Amino acid sequence: MPSFGPIAPFYDDLMQGVPYRMWAGYYQLLLAQQGVRPTRVLDVCCGTGTLTEMLSSEGYAMTGFDISEPMIQEARRKASAAGLEIRYEVADAAEVDLGERFEAAFSFFDSLNYITDLARLRQSVERVYAHLEPGGSFVFDLNTAYAFEARLFDQQDTRPRTRVKYNWVGQYDRSSRIIEVAMEFWVDGEKVVETHVQRAHRPEEIEGMLFDAGFTDLRCYDSYTLDRPHKRSDRVHYAVLKP
Ligand SMILES: C[S@@+](CC[C@H](N)C(=O)[O-])C[C@H]1O[C@@H](n2cnc3c(N)ncnc32)[C@H](O)[C@@H]1O
Repeated sequence: MPSFGPIAPFYDDLMQGVPYRMWAGYYQLLLAQQGVRPTRVLDVCCGTGTLTEMLSSEGYAMTGFDISEPMIQEARRKASAAGLEIRYEVADAAEVDLGERFEAAFSFFDSLNYITDLARLRQSVERVYAHLEPGGSFVFDLNTAYAFEARLFDQQDTRPRTRVKYNWVGQYDRSSRIIEVAMEFWVDGEKVVETHVQRAHRPEEIEGMLFDAGFTDLRCYDSYTLDRPHKRSDRVHYAVLKP
């Protein structure tokens, strides 16, 4: 089963505990650290657009894209119900061409870990760069190898009263740095299965592709803090500028 296909209509139910509101605040804190005050913002791998909508409500002109058509369908349905004007497109980050530029782009919730092929990831970084105005900001987060080694992907919620129950089990291969997560969901009693594959990109690989693309002013944080990453950071935020 493809990832983010069958689960798309239930994604927001599953993510109810995710602190998107805090993430929106943290994103704006990182923008302030960079001295960037964007109007037009691009959400790279936006999923169902929860963060996109929050930032739209705060006055940013938002565009989002994602490779999964079912996720974009959900995002469009939600924006229309909320009366928000957001441009959503189905596109692969490695090939996207939206025909416009932004003052800032971000990609949250380990979306770039899903691009397991380093050449495709490099192309994705280049595509983001091409979509930014000079002085533009790119902020993104990544799961670390520590997160996979510590089995943070192994999660379950099978409480009887929960509408969407799930059981996730990850298999991490240290040599390839790839984790395959078998995800089982039960929605109103019906079972849905997806396999999610992520790679623990090395910090030096990420830094190399950012600088090669032309980005400068790299800052790295232990996620949701302004501290440097450490060996037990399970998620790291990167922030760079297009000169
Ligand atoms: C964990 S979800 C996060 C979605 C959203 N950013 C959020 O915070 O809820 C990861 C998303 O990355 C998308 N994705 C994975 N590979 C992609 C690619 N090559 N191009 C665009 N989107 C991609 C998936 O379809 C999925 O919606």
